[in-house]
Amino acid sequence: MPAIFPRWTNHIPVVAGLLAPLVGAGLIFAVWYWFSPKFTDVGYRPKQPVPYSHRLHVSDVGLDCRYCHNTVERAAHAAVPPAATCMNCHSQVKSTSPRLEKVRESYNTGAPIQWVRVHQLPDYVYFDHRPHVAAGVGCASCHGRVDLEDVVELKEPLSMSWCLDCHRNPEPNLRPLDQVTNMAWDPAEHDYDPNKDPMRKRKVQPPTHCSGCHR
Ligand code: HEC
Ligand code: HEC
Ligand code: HEC
Ligand code: HEC
Ligand code: HEC
Repeated sequence: MPAIFPRWTNHIPVVAGLLAPLVGAGLIFAVWYWFSPKFTDVGYRPKQPVPYSHRLHVSDVGLDCRYCHNTVERAAHAAVPPAATCMNCHSQVKSTSPRLEKVRESYNTGAPIQWVRVHQLPDYVYFDHRPHVAAGVGCASCHGRVDLEDVVELKEPLSMSWCLDCHRNPEPNLRPLDQVTNMAWDPAEHDYDPNKDPMRKRKVQPPTHCSGCHR
């Protein structure tokens, strides 16, 4: 009796069985790599309701990030400051400037200024500033040189591959723990070895398993 299928087809199920997981893994990789906003969102620079400049307040006036984003070390979110923080100075400095009208209004009515969010992860991603700041990852490593910007711009894609690139090899992105808000401190220019830093009590181990960031 003639064979309907040639003999070699007997191997198809085995070969297909071996290839399927590889193809599956490849697809997952392709989906998160190519459909992550990496290639679209960087450069996002919305117009803000008040022309607040980080360049002026950080580089010229000399304020530390934590003067305004004071929850960054103790909460998941780095709170954007209320008008009262601005009024510490602007009740005297430029106190009648029309550019500060909305700040005065917010201070007097208590209604918050409607700042437009620049960095925003999807709800299904868990992110917390605290462990990053505590491990000595600088603000500049994730936000770029905010201190040189008049308008904050999205510098990094905030995609899964971006997070994982660092989580798999964090050491080149670490700095001394007291340099986190020093925007001019560039890890590439220093020969810093976190494993020899006596201020560190343990080796950092960022999660790379799915439930680390999807809880
Ligand atoms: C005088 C107060 C003040 C200081 C000091 C300050 N910021 Fe801000 N920051 C703001 C305000 C107000 C906003 C919201 C308006 C905007 O985006 O410009 C903001 C927005 C941001 C954002 C964007 C938030 C978003 O919507 O995604 C980042 C990132 C940021 N600041 C980082 C820093 C860093 C890093 C430093 C220190 C180098 C710093 N800031 C210092 C007041 C401040
Ligand atoms: C490891 C990367 C990383 C580091 C380091 C980092 N940020 Fe962020 N930051 C983010 C991400 C991601 C978001 C968006 C968070 C979200 O949508 O939940 C964000 C959001 C913000 C926001 C908007 C409010 C919020 O929390 O959602 C501000 C303000 C901010 N960061 C300031 C800072 C300052 C100041 C520092 C340094 C002390 C800093 N960040 C360090 C990644 C980082
Ligand atoms: C430590 C003091 C200080 C704090 C706090 C502060 N500023 Fe300022 N701000 C200044 C100084 C100084 C200037 C520059 C004044 C000048 O040009 O003579 C300025 C200028 C400005 C201007 C430009 C005003 C104009 O008419 O040119 C805006 C807008 C502004 N700040 C917004 C803010 C906002 C919003 C906050 C709160 C998130 C804030 N500032 C917090 C000190 C401060
Ligand atoms: C530049 C490096 C870097 C980037 C970028 C980065 N991380 Fe991390 N992440 C770290 C380090 C370092 C730690 C601390 C690990 C430790 O303390 O052992 C950490 C810790 C964490 C933790 C563990 C928190 C905990 O309490 O267990 C989570 C969750 C996390 N990161 C999520 C993210 C997400 C989501 C992104 C992308 C939006 C991101 N990270 C981007 C370096 C980074
Ligand atoms: C270090 C943090 C981190 C880890 C670990 C991580 N993810 Fe993600 N994941 C993210 C972030 C951030 C996003 C959002 C990216 C975006 O907005 O495009 C994301 C998005 C996704 C998406 C949506 C796809 C898309 O691009 O819209 C899926 C599916 C996903 N992750 C699955 C996984 C799986 C499966 C694992 C384990 C193999 C994993 N993630 C591990 C941070 C992480």
